[in-house]
Amino acid sequence: MKIAIGNDHAGIDLKDAVLEVLHARGIEVVDCGTYDRNSCDYPVFGQKAADLVASGECELGILMCGTGVGISLAANKVKGIRCVCCSEVYSAAMARCHNDANMLSIGARVIGTETAKMIVAAFLDASFEGDRHQRRVDIITAIENGEKTY
Ligand code: RB5
Repeated sequence: MKIAIGNDHAGIDLKDAVLEVLHARGIEVVDCGTYDRNSCDYPVFGQKAADLVASGECELGILMCGTGVGISLAANKVKGIRCVCCSEVYSAAMARCHNDANMLSIGARVIGTETAKMIVAAFLDASFEGDRHQRRVDIITAIENGEKTY
């Protein structure tokens, strides 16, 4: 499996923790940056990682910024991306099981490194259940495509 990661200067504090989980599983990582603590603009790195997931080059993506919010908003503007911002394990797992989320976003100013590792592991271990959930994901895609669903 190949995973794209992206972060801004605030999210960089979680990067080592995330990489630890990914490397322990032998997952190939494409690190879209940023690579230092100089102030930068999170949407750029969110888009860069999201493009790799949307194109199929990477199966999943993991994003980090201060809250996890801004970079997830940016990623979700890329067609085909379902990025979920999570601060706890249950939502991270269910986002895969029910929503077929293909990107996870976490906030370095919100959660600690051990919680972050557990969230990443939960996201990776879960898988999409399909069935009625596929129908609902298809509706999300229809909305993304500008269709009225009501
Ligand atoms: C950077 O200060 C901060 O705004 C950013 O990391 C993120 O939290 C935005 O949503």
